[in-house]
Amino acid sequence: MLSIIGIGLNDEKDITLKGLELIKQSDFVYLESYTSILQCDVSALEKLYGKKIILADRTLVEQKAEETILKNAKTKNVSFLVIGDALSATTHTDLLKRAKDLGIKVNIVHNASILTAVAETGLQLYKFGKTTSMPFPEKNFQPETAYEVIKDNLSSGLHTLVLLDLRPQENKFMTVNQAINILLEIQEKRKEKTITKIIGCARLGSEKPTIKFGTAKELKDFNFGKPPHCLIIPGKMHFAEEEFVGQFK
Ligand SMILES: C[S@@+](CC[C@H](N)C(=O)[O-])C[C@H]1O[C@@H](n2cnc3c(N)ncnc32)[C@H](O)[C@@H]1O
Repeated sequence: MLSIIGIGLNDEKDITLKGLELIKQSDFVYLESYTSILQCDVSALEKLYGKKIILADRTLVEQKAEETILKNAKTKNVSFLVIGDALSATTHTDLLKRAKDLGIKVNIVHNASILTAVAETGLQLYKFGKTTSMPFPEKNFQPETAYEVIKDNLSSGLHTLVLLDLRPQENKFMTVNQAINILLEIQEKRKEKTITKIIGCARLGSEKPTIKFGTAKELKDFNFGKPPHCLIIPGKMHFAEEEFVGQFK
C-alpha cells in the first residue's frame, strides 16, 4: 500500500492525525526532498513520527520509483511524504498514476498548500489566474513564460502566483528580490509597463511569515529572510482586498 501524505507547510506538527497514523503503520517512509522545504529539520520529523526517513530526490521519484518506492509498496506499507499538499505538483500525480497502473492500493492524505496559503495576503483565492513558476536562469535558458502568464492573467484582471525555483540539495533558493530583477529585466527589454504592484511572501503558514506589498522598486532590496519565497502580482483588486493588502505596505 502506498500512502501519499501532505505534511503541510511549516514543521513536524502540521501532519494530520490520519497522516501520522499511516506513517506509524509504515515499513518505509520517504520524504520528497526537491520541490519545497519546511522550517524544521528532518530529524524533528523522525522524532515525532518515530520512523527513519529516506530522502527521495527527483531521480529516485521520477526515474527509479519502480525499483524502490513502488516495488516496496507492492508488498509493504509505504508512506511518501510531500511538503505542502499531497498532490499539488505534477511529479506527485505522476507517482500516483504509476502506482495505480501497477495495481497498488493508494491512500491520499491532503494538507495545506502554498496554493491556498496565499490567502494570508488578503487576496481572494478564486480571483487567481494560472499559477506560474520562475526557474533559475542559465546561460542558454532564460524563459519568459512567467512574464507571459502574468501579462495574460492581468489582462483578465486576475492575480498571479509565481512559485520560485529551488535546489534544496545545493541550498539554493530563489528570493523574491532575484525574481523581481528577472521580471524587470524582461519588462525593460520589451519596453513595457506590465508589472507595477507586487506582493512578496516568505514562509507562509509559519509563525513568522513575511508579507510585503509595494512597487517593484520598493521591494527589490527588501530582506524577506529565510526561504521559501514566492511572489504575487495582484490583478484588479476588490476594495476589501485592497484594504487588507494595504496593511503590508
Ligand atoms: C513547487 S512548489 C511546492 C508546493 C507544495 N507541494 C505545496 O503544496 O505547497 C514550491 C515553491 O512554492 C513556494 N512556496 C512553498 N511553500 C511556501 C511558503 N510556505 N511560503 C512561501 N512560498 C512557498 C516557493 O516558491 C517554492 O519554491
